[in-house]
Amino acid sequence: MVTSSAPGKVYLFGEHAVVYGEPAVPCAIERRASVTATRRDDASLRVHAGDLTLDGFTVEYSGDTAGTPDVDVEQPLLEAAMGYVNEAIEQARDAADRPEAGFDVHIDSAIPLGAGLGSSAAVVVAAIDAATRELDHPLGVEAIADRAYQVELAVQDGEASRADTFCSAMGGAVRVEGEDCRRLDAVPNLPFVIGYDGGSGDTGALVAGVRGLREEYDFAADTVEAIGDVVRRGEDALVEEDLDELGRLMDFNHGLLSALGVSSRSLDAMVWAARDADARGAKLTGAGGGGCIVALDATDGTETALRYTPGCEHAFRAELDTDGVRVEE
Ligand code: MEV
Repeated sequence: MVTSSAPGKVYLFGEHAVVYGEPAVPCAIERRASVTATRRDDASLRVHAGDLTLDGFTVEYSGDTAGTPDVDVEQPLLEAAMGYVNEAIEQARDAADRPEAGFDVHIDSAIPLGAGLGSSAAVVVAAIDAATRELDHPLGVEAIADRAYQVELAVQDGEASRADTFCSAMGGAVRVEGEDCRRLDAVPNLPFVIGYDGGSGDTGALVAGVRGLREEYDFAADTVEAIGDVVRRGEDALVEEDLDELGRLMDFNHGLLSALGVSSRSLDAMVWAARDADARGAKLTGAGGGGCIVALDATDGTETALRYTPGCEHAFRAELDTDGVRVEE
């Protein structure tokens, strides 16, 4: 039996545009998904998941490789998560050249599903690590990131960047531009506050929406490129440790994402609440549509202000997690 964990993430800058080759800077946060993989005597895969929401509400789900869940068929998000796990186990079998290997897989995650905090990437990265170790075929971090990316590509119909999976495998703040993925060293302390509306977005549909706008309107394509420009300026601000400039650029990034149609009323409400509470800046994080915003805090007040924002279910501070995927004792 092996248990591995991997962190969730927020996007300081660059979601959506990264799908079209612009740079992005996601940052791993101290909210992790743990996956335990145990070899079975037969070739089947049994998946059990509990505690997949922020407030500890426990959902039991188990399914086999044929996609026949034992319980909770009504949970579309959980079913989507099971799709990621199935593909992750396929990757582990392929890496170890053990196509017949069966597993019991148990998932515990403190990252809400589909809310922009990289839950699927964290589960996939941790599952590949745990299952390959259980097969005595441990992989390097880069190889795990690459295989996790293949999983996202397969599950999301070819619409994914390497950003989420690389960040979760590597930990810390990373920079992703096409195939070029690297960790950023010497990042200043980034006081993130996260607001969560309790909802989620459909990543595939949101990415497809941006693709459609970009194909239809030159100014939408220009908007995607403008996000790339914001990211490049943001990288300078990171090097200069200029948190006020980072905040301004986050605000700008949110406006551009909004123009591309991926914000929502509740995400906008949380962004404005954070700004009203003197955050340095705030933006949605991840695919959007609902879920989370990330604010760069300037005072102690932001978290409280978000908590009292209509529609904000949870607000919490999130430290940068410098650990990527790791084995848990
Ligand atoms: C989703 O977490 C981030 C997107 O940029 C999609 C991707 O990069 O694969 C919207």
